[in-house]
Amino acid sequence: MTSRFRTIIEPFRIHSVEPLRFLSDEDRGEAIREAGYNLFNLHADAVLIDLLTDSGTGAMSRDQWAALQHGDESYAGSPSWYVFLEAVRELFPFPHVIPTHQGRAAEKILFATIGGPGRVIPNNTHFDTTRANVEYTGAEAVDLVIPEGRQPSVEHPFKGNMDLGALERLLTERGADVPVVFVTITNNSGGGQPVSLENLHGVRALCNRFGVPLFLDACRFAENAWFIRTREPGQQDRPVADITREVASLADGMTMSAKKDPMSNIGGWLAMRDDSLAERCRNLLVLTEGFPTYGGLAGRDLEAIAQGLRECVDEHYLRYRIRSTAYLGEALDRAGVPIVKPVGGHAVYLDARALLPHVEPLRYPGQALAVALYEAGGIRGCEIGTVMFGRRPDGTEGPAAMDLVRLAIPRRTYTQSHVDYVIEVVAGVAAEAASLPGYRIVEEPPQLRHFTARFEPLA
Ligand code: F0G
Repeated sequence: MTSRFRTIIEPFRIHSVEPLRFLSDEDRGEAIREAGYNLFNLHADAVLIDLLTDSGTGAMSRDQWAALQHGDESYAGSPSWYVFLEAVRELFPFPHVIPTHQGRAAEKILFATIGGPGRVIPNNTHFDTTRANVEYTGAEAVDLVIPEGRQPSVEHPFKGNMDLGALERLLTERGADVPVVFVTITNNSGGGQPVSLENLHGVRALCNRFGVPLFLDACRFAENAWFIRTREPGQQDRPVADITREVASLADGMTMSAKKDPMSNIGGWLAMRDDSLAERCRNLLVLTEGFPTYGGLAGRDLEAIAQGLRECVDEHYLRYRIRSTAYLGEALDRAGVPIVKPVGGHAVYLDARALLPHVEPLRYPGQALAVALYEAGGIRGCEIGTVMFGRRPDGTEGPAAMDLVRLAIPRRTYTQSHVDYVIEVVAGVAAEAASLPGYRIVEEPPQLRHFTARFEPLA
């Protein structure tokens, strides 16, 4: 049913609530100092509106909570496994589905199997864990998103598209070293931007020509399909599940985190067509995750994921989801805050490099902005920039392509008044941006440093 009214409402009503926790400015200042100015180190009790991630933080539905009760914890061949398998195959009909405890476990197993020194893995943009898992094997991770995808203020309906010319050059020069081509839908590290069906067909054609398999990092496939439906010529009114099946038909496999679009608190999977690759991956799975009919998951998790998969392709849900993210982005844009445009599916990305021109990339403008949003209003966002991507595998450091702060929207969790509050806080901080200090790192681990590094504000 399409409404004749303009207002897009939440397609649910609230059934159970969690209290928010209000801290004084002083207490927040104390908390962030103790956390080494790293928002990942905060006690979540000290956060008012948590936009750190949309991963595993969504509100499960009544029917997902009910599904948990159907969880069957048999070690092998649990009925819950078959419920899960059927729900996955309804959208992604791959012969082999390998459950894992979350997305990066699927990445770890896949790249341990097909990566290694001398190999190169292209992607539109690798997510941080994907890049880290590729590099951990000694392989090289290259990002080949279209040039528009690296320019925050440039509008493009499918800014997550792969640069087909660049991919063709890479495959021509180093095809033998490429074990797989990846496409991330939506392109999280590049602003939550979608990839068009046309572009995916183009990638498929190149993969066919060079005999290389194509895998999807499909965490936000439903949001991507919604953008295809609303932006790509000829796709209007097509069911999201149907678009998803076409996307899946173009790929040879996928890695997946069930913590995103499937609205579960935990879970993921690896899927593929190739029998011998699947066998090698399952052998690793048994070592690190568990038996092939549960991976790292409880039977009840498999049930919740299956139900979440059915809910996330619902058009009323997706219309609300995409519109409510755009609502935040458009308001910030009107307030003069530089953001990645157009607004992505799961998050609004603030362009910290543009907002804080006085803080050079190696003084971490994204970190500076993220800390300021917490100090001012208890909002926790996530730096996606030089802290996350600036350290190269050889230990040297350089600026990332962009310095962004991601405000990720947990699914079905916050209401419009929460978002109005976020708009007010961000606009207030932006007005004072010239006074924000840069940071230096005082402690960092060798990989994925953004999770645990400690910082100090510069005078
Ligand atoms: N791929 C993409 C595109 C992701 O966004 C994530 C996680 C993963 C893979 C890994 O999945 O967390 O289940 O191991 N992204 C979260 C985020 C953490 O905040 O964007 P995971």
